[in-house]
Amino acid sequence: MDINTGAPARGENFYFRKNIISKAWDLIESGNHILIAAPRRVGKTSVMYYLKDNPKKNFDFLFLDTESINNENEFFRRVVNKVLKTPAIKSSQKILTSLQKHMPSIKKIGKDGVEFGVKDDLDYFEVLKKILKSIDTEYGKTIIMLDEFPQTLENINADEGEQAGKHFLHSNRELRQDDEVSSHVQFIYTGSIGLENIVGKMNAPKTINDLSRLVIPPLKPAEAKDLVIRLLQNVPFDLSDPLIEYILEKIEWLIPFYIQLAIEGLKDLYRDEDLENITESYIDRTFEDMLAQRNHFEHWHSRLRTTLKGDEYNFSKQLLNIISENGTIQSAEIYNIAVKYKVEDTFKDLVGALVYDGYINNSDDKKMYRFNSPILRMWWRQNVAS
Ligand SMILES: Nc1ncnc2c1ncn2[C@@H]1O[C@H](COP(=O)(O)OP(=O)(O)OP(=O)(O)O)[C@@H](O)[C@H]1O
Ligand SMILES: [Mg+2]
Repeated sequence: MDINTGAPARGENFYFRKNIISKAWDLIESGNHILIAAPRRVGKTSVMYYLKDNPKKNFDFLFLDTESINNENEFFRRVVNKVLKTPAIKSSQKILTSLQKHMPSIKKIGKDGVEFGVKDDLDYFEVLKKILKSIDTEYGKTIIMLDEFPQTLENINADEGEQAGKHFLHSNRELRQDDEVSSHVQFIYTGSIGLENIVGKMNAPKTINDLSRLVIPPLKPAEAKDLVIRLLQNVPFDLSDPLIEYILEKIEWLIPFYIQLAIEGLKDLYRDEDLENITESYIDRTFEDMLAQRNHFEHWHSRLRTTLKGDEYNFSKQLLNIISENGTIQSAEIYNIAVKYKVEDTFKDLVGALVYDGYINNSDDKKMYRFNSPILRMWWRQNVAS
């Protein structure tokens, strides 16, 4: 298994997560539309790719990254063009003939099938609905996976206003609620920002309350150790069990990404300093070096900066500053900060968003919050709090 700290993990480099994949299949096979809910960098896109690359018989997965899209019609045009490339449609003469008859602007009819160009001025929601309804059920199920969907929603909200955003959510829901569509088409949504937070802020939770949640938790300690051992296969040094434990204790929030970063860091140090073996103090140094790589963590801060305004931002930042310094914070103290920044009405939602997005948790004790990841805590303390 090769170390990879950038792109989604794929093929041989995907550490197989049995429980998640089997839960995903349970949800898919019982006909659910799914929201993969997990904080940044936990491995959402990798799970989507795994499903796409390893489909069960009679399932066809489409994957579309919608991050750059900022209006509803463009969104549905892109989905239509993806759908038109699936085997079920490409080989359906019935659909192609009907498309050609009713939509003379259709482009490219070649070995890749058909495609709508950017200039076509059609109502692509209607086009998509028509196509999805007419897919022959003999082809089995088509699963449409939409990555970075919440970003598209935010783009629409920002460029066209929240009314347009709500319309977009309703259109998506309408497709899911259509019996003819849902009998053989299912949707899986995810993204690196929390859809539930955004939809909650828009006061529109009903538009997504039909989605089943697929939660992606961190690895269990035994899985994390197993991942380390696999990553060690392709590096020129070994690690004893106590050293592996030492690393995992430092990481604490055992998401594959941090494990990859740690082994990559050790590999670099081993090479750059011609080490003979790895010790605890080299591990400590690796973690310090890791924190200096701003690009891995900066988004945790910039995300708050772009989504929260004025005192909501000040409150959230102050809260995280205090937790990063003290390790924990009690609910009563959180309330005092809320009073200070005059956000008594919204602070519970703000804290909820920080939990949902993977900054902090109160799992051990309802009244006490701490960072999920000591690595993020250290980064925050060095780069934001001080
Ligand atoms: N199953 C896995 N096996 C090995 N590495 C993984 C796995 N899942 C995640 N990773 C590691 O985590 C990184 C992030 O994975 P991925 O892009 O799938 O996460 P994400 O949740 O989609 O992130 P984002 O929120 O930024 O979109 C990968 O580059 C890889 O280092
Ligand atoms: Mg992703």
